[in-house]
Amino acid sequence: MRTPLAEELGLEFPIFALTHCRDVVVEVCRAGGMGVFGVAAHSAGGLEAELRWIEERIGDRPYGVDLLLPTKFAGSDRGGFDASQLDALIPETHRKFLDDLLSQHGVPPLPEGAAVGDAFSVGLDSQRDVIEMLFEHPISLIASALGPPPGWMIETGRSKGVKVAALAGTVEHARRHAEAGADIVVAQGYEAGGHTGTVSTMVLVPEVVDAIDPIPVLAAGGIGNGRQLTASLALGAQGVWCGSVWLTTEEAETHPVVKEKFLAAGSSDTVRSRSLTGKPARQLRSAWTDAWEDAANPDPLPMPLQPRLTREYQARINRTAHNNEGARQLANYFVGQIVGSMNHVKSVRSVMEEFAVEYADTMERLDGFTPE
Ligand SMILES: Cc1cc2nc3c(=O)[nH]c(=O)nc-3n(C[C@H](O)[C@H](O)[C@H](O)COP(=O)(O)O)c2cc1C
Repeated sequence: MRTPLAEELGLEFPIFALTHCRDVVVEVCRAGGMGVFGVAAHSAGGLEAELRWIEERIGDRPYGVDLLLPTKFAGSDRGGFDASQLDALIPETHRKFLDDLLSQHGVPPLPEGAAVGDAFSVGLDSQRDVIEMLFEHPISLIASALGPPPGWMIETGRSKGVKVAALAGTVEHARRHAEAGADIVVAQGYEAGGHTGTVSTMVLVPEVVDAIDPIPVLAAGGIGNGRQLTASLALGAQGVWCGSVWLTTEEAETHPVVKEKFLAAGSSDTVRSRSLTGKPARQLRSAWTDAWEDAANPDPLPMPLQPRLTREYQARINRTAHNNEGARQLANYFVGQIVGSMNHVKSVRSVMEEFAVEYADTMERLDGFTPE
């Protein structure tokens, strides 16, 4: 399974794991793939400690980082808004809708002083310090989602020998990333968990491979086993980039109630919804997504207003979902259609081994189709 890109990066397997859990990064790296740490959910302060924790455990194995660099967001035409301006832009109707939704479900308020998590930050100016800090670490790859990597990020990557990757949901995105100078494009199809477009992986991957040749492409969206990995290489990708499949592993810090829901869910149980981030993102369907889909209720706000609005309500749901039925019904998280095949808790290492074994079996089966 050695592709030129995997060779270049020193990987045993061309499997890239996007995760927000440091343990998953470490286990994927130890098993011969590349763990890519999503920094979007982490505060700048805590991030350095997380990176050091990872580095102490993987030795000189390569790892990567990923961040959201959206081109379009509320106020993007004027460089964004500051925190107080953002809060003032959240309509009272939206707060009232969520107050009512949670009280109808019997979800109690947060205790005084309870943590609600960091505010989601967008805009290159506010993220430049974080990116510069990331480059001070021994990363092998840095990926940008929701927009092309800026020129200075590509130049810094070149000078430090760090590959710069960018996620694309259409062939036009992929061309834009190639023109910006990205070293790798992740072609991510509709099936994917998290922010996703409307073109399926099966159609998008060969389209992107042809459009930006010879820039290497990773296939993403709906890939959770060795047959899907083999298919991705057949489509012209040099590896796979997976997000959902790690969420039900032993090492993942997925909320226990959500993990249980993922294990029981079928492949039709996800929706693309703007209800968590303000941009369409695939997630488990729940009473939360149903309420936001209802035409009688307000529409989600643009990024970053929607995550700013919802974080306290999400904290209330997550804090009580283990013993409150209403909160359990509302609880959800990002996941792709592959959730239908995520039916058992496994270690990260066994997921990696199953990828490799099924790849070998599939290649052998395909070989058998060719006459002597
Ligand atoms: C829980 C979750 C969180 C994600 N967060 C990010 C993120 O912060 N940055 C990013 O580039 N992609 C993110 N993604 C998308 C992944 O990078 C990846 O493209 C996608 O998961 C691939 O499809 P799959 O979910 O079918 O494996 C996320 C996906 C999931 C499931």
